[in-house]
Amino acid sequence: MASTFVNVGPIKGLDYVGFRPSRPLKLNSGRTQFDPRPLRRLTVRAGDGDGPVGKTRLSDAECEAAVVAGNVPQAPPAPPKPAAPAGTPVVPLLPLSRRPRRNRRSPALRAAFQETSLSPANFVYPLFIHEGQEDTPIGAMPGCYRLGWRHGLVEEVAKARDVGVNSIVLFPKIPDALKNATGDEAYNDDGLVPRSIRLLKDKFPDLVIYTDVALDPYSSDGHDGIVREDGVIMNDETVHQLCKQAVSQARAGADVVSPSDMMDGRVGAIRNALDAEGFHHVSIMSYTAKYASSFYGPFREALDSNPRFGDKKTYQMNPANYREALVEAGEDESEGADILLVKPGLPYLDIIRLLRDSSSLPIAAYQVSGEYSMIKAGGALKMIDEEKVMLESLMCLRRAGADIILTYFAMQAARSLCGEKR
Ligand code: PBG
Repeated sequence: MASTFVNVGPIKGLDYVGFRPSRPLKLNSGRTQFDPRPLRRLTVRAGDGDGPVGKTRLSDAECEAAVVAGNVPQAPPAPPKPAAPAGTPVVPLLPLSRRPRRNRRSPALRAAFQETSLSPANFVYPLFIHEGQEDTPIGAMPGCYRLGWRHGLVEEVAKARDVGVNSIVLFPKIPDALKNATGDEAYNDDGLVPRSIRLLKDKFPDLVIYTDVALDPYSSDGHDGIVREDGVIMNDETVHQLCKQAVSQARAGADVVSPSDMMDGRVGAIRNALDAEGFHHVSIMSYTAKYASSFYGPFREALDSNPRFGDKKTYQMNPANYREALVEAGEDESEGADILLVKPGLPYLDIIRLLRDSSSLPIAAYQVSGEYSMIKAGGALKMIDEEKVMLESLMCLRRAGADIILTYFAMQAARSLCGEKR
C-alpha cells in the first residue's frame, strides 16, 4: 500500500490533508534520508495540516474515504534534479535500453545484487610449527611464524577461533637429524604433527584440522617422494609411505588429510588405507592441480624444505597446462577425493573455474606463500592498500569457484570482515 503514496503530487484543485508518520522522518533540504530501522505503521491524524491537531485516530475506512473525497494526505515533494557543474556539456541522452549502472547506484542495491560472499567460515589457516618454545618470525612472510607447538600454536588457534576461523592446516619444520631418504619420520605417531593434533583436539575438540601428506619436510632430499639414485622420484613406493603418514595423522585425530605430493594413485591408496584402519570418517582433500610454481619460495624458506637438487617438475604440473588439470581431477574424483584443490590461487583462477564447472565436489584454492608475500611487500612499500588487495584477492578466488581458501591471511582477513560487520 505504501507505494500508493509514492510520487503523489498535488492534484489540481484539491487541498492536501496532512500526512505524518508516527515517528518523524529526518528531512534534509527536501530529501528523505535512508533510515535502516524497520518501517513502522504510519498514522494519519484527523485535521493534521488543515486545522487544530485532532487526537482521534481515523479508521482505515475513514482514511480511504478521505482520499476518495479528495482530501489527499500530504507527502514531501520529490527532490529537485541535482545540478551538474558549470561547463557540463549538454548532450542528448544515449538511446540505451539497458544501463547496468542502475543496479550499482547505491550501497543497498550493490549489496542486494552481490553474487559472491566471503566469510571466515571459508578460510583454512595454514600454520607452521616447530619443536622450539619460541615463535620464530619467517623472514619472507611478514606476520607468519614458526610457532612453538605447545604454546604459540595453541594461542594462535584460539585467536583465530575468536574471529570465526575454525579450520587450520599444519606444516611442520622437522629437525635435520630426523630426516632420511625415505622420510620415515612422516609416520611416527609421536612426531611433531600427531603430537600437535592431539594437543589441539584436547583443547578444541570441534576445531577442524587438515594435515599435509607429503614427504618433503621429512626427506633429506627435500622432495615430496623417495628419490632413486638416478634422481627419479619413485611413485608407488612413495604412495606406500604416504598411506602410513595419512593413517598416523588420522589416528592422532586429523579431520582432513591432504596429499600435496602429486604422486599418481595416492588418493585411492590413502582412501583404502584409512578405511582399512577404521577411519571412514576422515576426509581427503587432494591437491589435484598443483603446479610446479615459483610462488612456493617463501614456504620452502619457512620449512627449510628446498629440494636438495633439481626441481619438482616430474610430479607437479607444468604451469602452461590447462587440460591436464581435467585428467588429474578425473582420477582424484574416481579414487574418492572429498575436496579438489588448486594451487597456487590467483594466477590459476582459470583452473579453479575449470574444476568448479567440471566437478560437483567442493573446490579448494591455495593462496600460496609467494602470493601472500607479494601483497605484504606491496603494502609495506605503500604501493598498494594491503587490506583492500587482500580482501579483493580472496573474493576473486571465491568468485572463480573456490568453496574454501587456504590462506596465510585467514586471521587478518577474518578480523577485517568482523570489523566491517560491527
Ligand atoms: C609440499 C608443500 C608445498 C606447499 C604446500 N605443501 C611446497 C612445495 O610443493 O614445494 C607450498 C605452500 C606455499 O607456498 O604456501 N608438499
